Amino acid sequence: MRNSGSPALLARDFERFKGELPRDFPAHVREVYGIDLTARYLGETIPHPIGKGSGQLSLNESQLGVDADAGLAFAVLKTVIAQDAAGAQSMAAWAIHETKMKVERRGAGWTITWKGRGWDRSFDEYLALVRAGRDLTQDGRLVVVPSVKYHLPRLDEAFNEAEYEFTTRALAGAWGEPLLLLEKDFSPTLAGDALAGEQAQILRWLREVPARIRAQAAVRLAVKVMNARFDDDFQVEMTRAAAGADALVVFNRLFDAKHGVAYGGPELSDRNLRVLDRLATGGRPAELCGTGDIHSGRMVLEYARRGCESVQLHTFFQLPLEEYAATEGSRTQRALHQLVFDPADGLIAGMLDLETQGVLERRGGELHFLDLAADAHSPR
Ligand SMILES: Cc1cc2nc3c(=O)[nH]c(=O)nc-3n(C[C@H](O)[C@H](O)[C@H](O)COP(=O)(O)O)c2cc1C
Repeated sequence: MRNSGSPALLARDFERFKGELPRDFPAHVREVYGIDLTARYLGETIPHPIGKGSGQLSLNESQLGVDADAGLAFAVLKTVIAQDAAGAQSMAAWAIHETKMKVERRGAGWTITWKGRGWDRSFDEYLALVRAGRDLTQDGRLVVVPSVKYHLPRLDEAFNEAEYEFTTRALAGAWGEPLLLLEKDFSPTLAGDALAGEQAQILRWLREVPARIRAQAAVRLAVKVMNARFDDDFQVEMTRAAAGADALVVFNRLFDAKHGVAYGGPELSDRNLRVLDRLATGGRPAELCGTGDIHSGRMVLEYARRGCESVQLHTFFQLPLEEYAATEGSRTQRALHQLVFDPADGLIAGMLDLETQGVLERRGGELHFLDLAADAHSPR
């Protein structure tokens, strides 16, 4: 059953929600369009697929509150650098402070240039933010996930167990619930580091890090995989090596060695989608969450059709206000409005088109977002 009046309804909703996006827009989408946006991140069922990637937009409780009010599905906290009980950090070079961010056009898209790295305040302050996130998660308002960068040794070195132990246990203690959701970041600046020049070294990290973290606490673990400075074959090999994680976030930004900065934009989504195409044929190593240059509902669907059950964005939540069609509300609301309701490029328009093309079929009268990822991994 296709609702032939949908384009007109969509144009109307897009207009009227410019002033205010209803917080429970997934219920509206289901009722009016017969589209079930239910998605999954780290084993959690979420009302729609759009979350916020770790970074400068999840540094404090008030940002999380605004996101919860807007109806965002999940938010990953800024990456904290692991430490031992005495406060020593072997990855201390990543905990630097830098305030200036530049939002710039890159090709047909956008990128953010910023030379800072991880969380630069105290670990206790991070734990307080984790507790606030736990409360929002428990109240069903926003799934919040902490993110950590742990020690990564050279091939001939041992892992710094004391950092894995102290940091993981402290986070699990602050979370307080039986199961901690956690993201482990392998960042683009790491890809640019001399440490990441050797393939065997990177593969060892991806193979061994999940077990090191699990040894310290009961966690459901996502590994955010970097774009290494090697070819697509190696990128696929990295995802296979990381299969000990419950979920993979694919893939963090590219690294521009000449300028010493990470970047996104169309080159990032081209590379990520190309590698995900390869993964779809060989079987999925773990649950997948897409990231990179997602600026429209149609781009969400490109990732979904390659097996991603949710997505996490950063740049699109940070554009100049005039880039959004909505005229009121938080940046998060304005971005969600466009990603979901844009009559040309939004999630609803894209899913209805996939129905017309015969790619997506109604079950029980509804189109289901998660069917796209399931189809990507069913044998052809
Ligand atoms: C300014 C900035 C800071 C970021 N900081 C982190 C970080 O601390 N940890 C992390 O895992 N990813 C970090 N990211 C990566 C984003 O979470 C996201 O995965 C990436 O930018 C790709 O998505 P996008 O193209 O929508 O920005 C950062 C990105 C930006 C632009």
